[in-house]
Amino acid sequence: MLTTLAIQNYRSLRDLVLPLSQLTVIVGANGTGKSSLYRALRLLADAGRNGAVAALAGEGGLPSTLWAGPETISRAVREGRVPVQPLRRTTSVGLRLGYSGDEFGYALDFGLPIPSETAFNLDPEYKRECVWHCPVLRPSALLADRAGTRVRIRDESGSWIESGHSIALTDSMLSEFADPRLCPELLIVRDRVRSWRFYDHFRTDADAPARQSRIGTRTWALDHDGGDLAAALRTIQESTDAEALATAIDGAFPGSSVEVTTADGRFDLRFHQHGLLRPLSAAELSDGTLRYLLWAAALLSPRPPELLVLNEPETSLHPDLLPALAALITAAAKKTQLLVVSHSQLLVRFLEDASVLELEKDFGATVVAGQGRLDQPSWHWPKR
Ligand SMILES: Nc1ncnc2c1ncn2[C@@H]1O[C@H](COP(=O)(O)OP(=O)(O)O)[C@@H](O)[C@H]1O
Ligand SMILES: [Mg+2]
Repeated sequence: MLTTLAIQNYRSLRDLVLPLSQLTVIVGANGTGKSSLYRALRLLADAGRNGAVAALAGEGGLPSTLWAGPETISRAVREGRVPVQPLRRTTSVGLRLGYSGDEFGYALDFGLPIPSETAFNLDPEYKRECVWHCPVLRPSALLADRAGTRVRIRDESGSWIESGHSIALTDSMLSEFADPRLCPELLIVRDRVRSWRFYDHFRTDADAPARQSRIGTRTWALDHDGGDLAAALRTIQESTDAEALATAIDGAFPGSSVEVTTADGRFDLRFHQHGLLRPLSAAELSDGTLRYLLWAAALLSPRPPELLVLNEPETSLHPDLLPALAALITAAAKKTQLLVVSHSQLLVRFLEDASVLELEKDFGATVVAGQGRLDQPSWHWPKR
């Protein structure tokens, strides 16, 4: 289980350390940084597939994603006596992301390259990457340590081994340096991070992937675009969770059920609705019904990941469906760790055993409401 998530200098998340529980819900007003938190976590997961540099470019590059405020907010600024001013930085600016859990912790530190004769002076570079034994990063707890192009690994006797080959500054140690003999822990951390699953707004328009019929295979995890919905539902129906799926559908739409038909390998949904003479196909379902089925397929996955992250699952769902959605989330949290970003008070009220963190803004920076310095989980960033 992940116990702490830490983010520094990512958009409005200037310096955030969050405690995570089995079911954590992030709430807050518009613009407080909820979506940024979701994206920061996804960026962290991208490092496990060496995709973080490309993902940052897709978000407008490192300079645009970095915290745009000052390094520190002085008392004079807080009291409104002087405007915010760009002061000389005392530390190098870096976008830092990390987590710690029951066993291992991982952190990365992105910075800009030293300018040179190249067109790629805005490419983010890994300045530091560390994997350690939990609970907190201490020199003696380090297992694998990357500084620039160098990777060092701790052996069983506790002494450092230089890996011997250098790693490109834009490649992640986690994905590109996983040697099962030198450092099996690195491989474990990488595979766990790769298993994290993220679901954001599902498309339900007329051309949405979930409305098309397609060739299906056994689907343990719904695709993030929902294109394999029929195969994913059928996989659940052939698993021990068949009953849970039937209950989830009946709970949301009393008297209804879903059937998945196949012809020549193509999988199609048939939604049997109380009062209709024939079942409806995926193309005919209302947006809300289709969206609910997508969340059911995602949350009832027979092979849950280490961490499941949902961004505003209530979007475009009728309030009547929120109790059923909350029941699905509560049940999923018994099998996997969940982080849910939500702006629906109603959904949050229906969730059981959730720890709720409310985000708010303090001089442009996201903070956790009611969290003082001493309430923060302990966290140390690797130094450059
Ligand atoms: N580089 C940046 N530095 C500081 N703040 C930023 C930066 N980029 C975006 N923001 C701020 O972050 C907020 C975006 O938050 P977002 O995660 O979309 O909020 P929510 O999902 O809670 O509505 C906005 O208030 C925006 O002004
Ligand atoms: Mg948002």
